[in-house]
Amino acid sequence: MAGSLTGKTTLVTGAGRGIGRATAIGLAASGADVLVVARSAGELAGTVAAFEETGPGTGHALAVVADLADGRQRQRVIDAVLARGRIDLLINNAATVEPLGSSATVSTADLRAAFEINVIAPAALTAAVTPGMLAAGWGRIVNVSSAIAANPGSMIRGNAYAATKAALEAHSRNLAAELAGTGVTVNVYRPGGVDTAMQAWIRSQDPERIGAALHERFRRSYADGRLLTPAESAQALVGHLIGPDGDQTGAIWNFTSTVAA
Ligand SMILES: NC(=O)c1ccc[n+]([C@@H]2O[C@H](COP(=O)([O-])OP(=O)(O)OC[C@H]3O[C@@H](n4cnc5c(N)ncnc54)[C@H](OP(=O)(O)O)[C@@H]3O)[C@@H](O)[C@H]2O)c1
Repeated sequence: MAGSLTGKTTLVTGAGRGIGRATAIGLAASGADVLVVARSAGELAGTVAAFEETGPGTGHALAVVADLADGRQRQRVIDAVLARGRIDLLINNAATVEPLGSSATVSTADLRAAFEINVIAPAALTAAVTPGMLAAGWGRIVNVSSAIAANPGSMIRGNAYAATKAALEAHSRNLAAELAGTGVTVNVYRPGGVDTAMQAWIRSQDPERIGAALHERFRRSYADGRLLTPAESAQALVGHLIGPDGDQTGAIWNFTSTVAA
C-alpha cells in the first residue's frame, strides 16, 4: 500500500478524530500529503503528530481549524488549501448525526444546520477543488455516507441524518455522471458501524428523546463488540482508493464490498 499516493495532495474533512483521523493517517502512510480540517485545534494537532509515525506525508501536513458549516470559514479553508496548489483527493468525511428526535420536534434551523455540514459543505469543497482536478485530468472525490441512505426507515428519529446522507449520495452519483470520462471520479463510502465519538454521543442521549429503540440499538451494538475500529474502516476506504476499485466512479463502496452504480 505504501507509496502509491506519493505526490498526491489530499484534503480530509473531519480528520481530528474517528474515521476521518484514521483515513488521514492511512492516506499519509500511502504517501500522500494530507491537509486536515475540523473545529477542534487540539484534535487536529494530534492527527498531524500521528503522521510523523507514518512516513512520506509527514513534512507536508496542514491543519486548518474551521467550522465547515459556516460559509465564510469554509471559504477560508478553500483559500488556504488552494494557496498550496491543487487538491488531488478530497475526502468529505465531516458530518453531524444531529438533530435526533421525533421529526415534529426538530426545528428548521437544526435541519438546515445538518444540511449545511452534511451536504452543502461537501458540495462546496468539491466545487472548489474540481477545476484543478479537471485541468490535471485526474482527481478522486469520496463522500462518506451511511448505510442509512440504503435503508432510510431503519433509523427512526434520525430523519435529518437519513435525508442528508441520501442527498449526499444523490449529489455524488449525479456528479460522477457529469464528470464521466474526465479522469475525476466521485464515489460514496459507507463506513459500517464504527466506534467513534459520534456513536458515543448517540448512546449518551436520553432514550425518551431519541427513542428507546434507536438508543437500545446503538447501546447493544457497542456492548456486543460489533463496532469496527476507525482504523479498520479507514483501511477499507483507502484500499478502495488505491486498489482495483480505484478507477470506479459513481460507486457505493460499503465497508465490506463494492456495489457498482
Ligand atoms: N461512526 C459510525 O458508526 C458511522 C456510521 C456511518 C457513517 N458514519 C459517517 O462517518 C463520518 C465520520 O463519522 P465519525 O463517526 O468518525 O464521527 P466523529 O468521531 O464525530 O468525527 C467527526 C469529525 O468531523 C468533524 N466535524 C464535525 N462537524 C464539523 C464542522 N461543522 N466543521 C468541521 N468539522 C466538523 C469533527 O471535529 P470537530 O467536532 O472538532 O469539528 C470530527 O473531526 C461521518 O460522515 C458519519 O456520518 C459514521
